[in-house]
Amino acid sequence: MVKKFPEKGTPLYDQIVSRVERGDSYGDIAESIDMTFKGFKDALRAEGIKRKQTNFEGVLPPAYELSKSATWEEHLEVIQRMDNLVAFHQRVPSEITIKINTDKPVIRVATADWHLGMFGVDYQAVKSDCLFMRDNDLKANIGGDGYHNIIQPSKMGSGHNQTPISVQKGLYVLTLEMLKDSIDTVRTGNHNYWAALAEGEDWDREITRKIKLLYMKHFGVVYYKVGNMVYPWLMLHKSRYNSSFNLTHNCKQNQRMYFPKARVVVAEHNHIAAVEQYRYDNQECVAIRTGTYAVYDDYAQQNGYFGAHVCNPAVVMFPNEDKLVGFKDMRDAVTYCRGLVCV
Ligand SMILES: [Fe+2]
Ligand SMILES: [Fe+2]
Repeated sequence: MVKKFPEKGTPLYDQIVSRVERGDSYGDIAESIDMTFKGFKDALRAEGIKRKQTNFEGVLPPAYELSKSATWEEHLEVIQRMDNLVAFHQRVPSEITIKINTDKPVIRVATADWHLGMFGVDYQAVKSDCLFMRDNDLKANIGGDGYHNIIQPSKMGSGHNQTPISVQKGLYVLTLEMLKDSIDTVRTGNHNYWAALAEGEDWDREITRKIKLLYMKHFGVVYYKVGNMVYPWLMLHKSRYNSSFNLTHNCKQNQRMYFPKARVVVAEHNHIAAVEQYRYDNQECVAIRTGTYAVYDDYAQQNGYFGAHVCNPAVVMFPNEDKLVGFKDMRDAVTYCRGLVCV
């Protein structure tokens, strides 16, 4: 006998509702309660029971809403905080004072463009100059291009004209360590800095930090307080105002434009040394272009840059009178001071 649809409110009614809603076959359900397929469907329609239209069970992820971007103020605040964090790595002192308590004249050497690792460097001169500085207790400012560091993909061929970079950097570090007590400041040059430009990290800064040397990166102004006198030095590797004929034009223009207090201006990078003593603002000044050890330089010859020579200029500064004397060769400064019985 065909049964009727269960009464509402009975457990069997609820069971049938849940089976229908979850999608069980109508035929199976009808058969299980001894109803005809048609009678069952009519009953469902009369009771208003339907399959639930879903094919997914579980928790859905949230619906997309247009995300709110950080505000103008938030951008500024976060970037400024990031800038403070980066500043620790990026910024270096550009103006410092070095006090020399003495009543005798002192010598300070400017040396740069060592290009260690390049083939065509006068390594014998490197050796003898470094030993001379160390053994005569000279103090020097170490300029840029300390090691050759050809790392650019565009210079692959030129990259073969050098020792492995790890080896040249090793020699640079060992040279700085050997001269540690003879060094006032260290700076980078375009060759050293290619690595920082490629990698974002300035390893010269880390090298000098480990050896506990004063690193001034691209340029430095050192106020040498010698006894009672103050002699500000401006030192830079590359700059504007270069003249092939008038080598010290660069030094004088930088002094006039930006550092009128400078008494010594050292400019490196061009590998052709010059020293000129001149008068500016009624005071004696010394302009210096440093030399190089890269005396057989393929790049220089390719581009017609002749005249590179080994040269570490030096300046003698007097402590009790306003007097500076520039020497193209540091050895002559030593001879001069020995004549004054001041070393
Ligand atoms: Fe150089
Ligand atoms: Fe350079």
